[in-house]
Amino acid sequence: MPEFTDKIAFVTGAGGGMGYRVACDLLAQGARVLMFDIKPPPDAVPGKPGQSIYVRGDLTDEAAVAAACARAIDEFGGIDCLANVAGALWFDRDRSALDVDLEVWDQVLAINLKSIVHTARHAVPSMRARGGGAMVHFSSTQCLRGDPAPQDAYQAAKAGVIALSKSLAIQLAGDRIRSNVILPGPTESPMQDRWRADPDSRDATARAIPLGRVATVEDMANACLFLLSDRAAYITGTELLVDGGLLSKP
Ligand SMILES: NC(=O)c1ccc[n+]([C@@H]2O[C@H](COP(=O)([O-])OP(=O)(O)OC[C@H]3O[C@@H](n4cnc5c(N)ncnc54)[C@H](O)[C@@H]3O)[C@@H](O)[C@H]2O)c1
Repeated sequence: MPEFTDKIAFVTGAGGGMGYRVACDLLAQGARVLMFDIKPPPDAVPGKPGQSIYVRGDLTDEAAVAAACARAIDEFGGIDCLANVAGALWFDRDRSALDVDLEVWDQVLAINLKSIVHTARHAVPSMRARGGGAMVHFSSTQCLRGDPAPQDAYQAAKAGVIALSKSLAIQLAGDRIRSNVILPGPTESPMQDRWRADPDSRDATARAIPLGRVATVEDMANACLFLLSDRAAYITGTELLVDGGLLSKP
């Protein structure tokens, strides 16, 4: 039987690279999925008719997140799994804390960190009512080390994701709700569109990674589905580096 049969998942960033892959893999494993993104829906979503709902909305708008969670609960019956995959890295505007536009700082924190507050507070009551659940939040290897070209708002937000996840894990363990984080390394996805114009830069990044390639969205979806599944039943409050060994290098 597919691993997520009878499970209901809420996936953010589902119009992007990793989120779309996570949603598709959950659908293939029998889940019903509410896909949430600020982007228009992708051309095709696999699965049976009625197995997925795509909601276009802004995660920084708590009312929009609340309405989407209510829709998953009304139309599917609840929420068991929450994948907070959405994120934004603004290469052009996010820079050193010393001179970044503070509007940009606030927006980057809202998209990458406060959004998780919104989804968690509107998904957890249903998880509690259903006797448990699992959450996976996407951070980044970048929050564990500096960057020669600082993107301080993103880095700080992604570090906050780890702290928030650990706290939620402890608060919710008694409700049998788990909370874990994935730290992706450099991954081929729309976020890294700049590599299309500059494949040499992607190749140089790949050469710096012990496994010799940048990650695929499948690498991330595989890790995410594992942490959402019952195979990870005893894993909570931790981080999984999915970086081809990058951060193990001296
Ligand atoms: N691609 C990488 O190299 C990389 C590396 C480390 C971490 N990450 C993280 O992995 C996650 C997935 O990244 P990706 O590569 O799939 O990026 P992506 O740009 O392909 O997808 C991110 C999605 O988030 C959505 N989004 C952004 N702001 C939103 C908002 N306010 N409301 C609703 N949706 C919003 C975007 O529309 C987009 O579809 C992100 O959290 C990202 O920060 C990515």
